Amino acid sequence: QAFFKPIQNSASPSSTKRHTKVSVIGVGNVGMAIAQTILTQDLADELALIDAKADKLRGEMLDLQHAAAFLPRTKIVASVDYAVTVGSDLCIVTAGARQNPGESRLNLLQRNVALFSHIIPPLAKYSPDSILLIVSNPVDVLTYVSWKMSGFPSNRVIGSGTNLDSSRFRFLIADHLDVNAQDVQAYIVGEHGDSSVALWSSISIGGVPVLSFLEKQQIAYEKDTLENIHKAVVESAYEVISLKGYTSWAIGYSVANLARSLLRDQRKIHPVSVLAKGFYGINGGDVFLSLPTQLGRGGVLGVTNIHLTDEEMERLRESAKTILEVQSQLGI
Ligand code: NAI
Ligand code: 2OP
Repeated sequence: QAFFKPIQNSASPSSTKRHTKVSVIGVGNVGMAIAQTILTQDLADELALIDAKADKLRGEMLDLQHAAAFLPRTKIVASVDYAVTVGSDLCIVTAGARQNPGESRLNLLQRNVALFSHIIPPLAKYSPDSILLIVSNPVDVLTYVSWKMSGFPSNRVIGSGTNLDSSRFRFLIADHLDVNAQDVQAYIVGEHGDSSVALWSSISIGGVPVLSFLEKQQIAYEKDTLENIHKAVVESAYEVISLKGYTSWAIGYSVANLARSLLRDQRKIHPVSVLAKGFYGINGGDVFLSLPTQLGRGGVLGVTNIHLTDEEMERLRESAKTILEVQSQLGI
């Protein structure tokens, strides 16, 4: 005798709904912050977790499953075997080494490239139509590596890039001017890291283009103030890592925000790491770095053509050069 007696001939709407599956690779600080944000925001019907450490992985899976009574219904599975990721719509990669206090992201490259050769090929095999969203650092070079290792078209390989740096930027500007960060439209582009570029010339708040407004009103502003805000963005992660050992909450929200745009076809513009060759005069080679990009169900839909000053353009090309120099050591 079944506990629940189904009503005859009533097709359940859920049986015809599209099943959305997200896999998160690496259940450390970052992977778990992303997983829990995806669950609370009801972005997936199924969440698959993968890690190399079987006990930690099962512990994290059970701990999330035990919140079932308080969350939207999501099937949560976990395994060290990539078969569990089969048929994913979105694979988010957070596995790998993180920075010690004071260490740069680029310094992690050799360790994390070696891990990626065990991660990307099985993901591509089990979910050949998925979108890969790379978070592990150095994220721009690892996104390039994932593009090469997966054989996926570049529109389906994205790095979380400066979506996080741009949120830090918007927070600092909003804090400085005492406005809501969601009303601040401002982008950091280029490398997610030390050579990132702040696009001051295109910042607007509530529809008002800030720098040209100040100039038209002949209100003086110190260039140093702007440089200091960008410096604070670059130093943000170093400060958090020196205080708590790692960063997690902001990247969790940042990646869930990207997952929503991708899975729900939001067509929103995010600064994320994409194949940049041919955009903004970047022609030195196949480099992934962050540009304002429209995201939807197909992955990267396009790159927006924001007006950059000569100085911003020059800094963006320098950032591309920095990444390409590191990439050239890989021989991939
Ligand atoms: P963590 O050490 O807490 O977690 C890393 C996890 O990866 C561990 O659970 C470990 O067992 C797992 N792992 C290692 N090798 C693996 C393999 N071959 N297969 C599957 N799992 C494996 O580190 P945390 O704090 O979660 O950081 C993870 C990465 O995310 C780091 O590279 C960090 O720099 C990066 N990160 C990137 C951000 C961004 O904005 N792009 C923001 C914050 C961190
Ligand atoms: C962050 O910016 C460490 O890339 C990491 O929080």
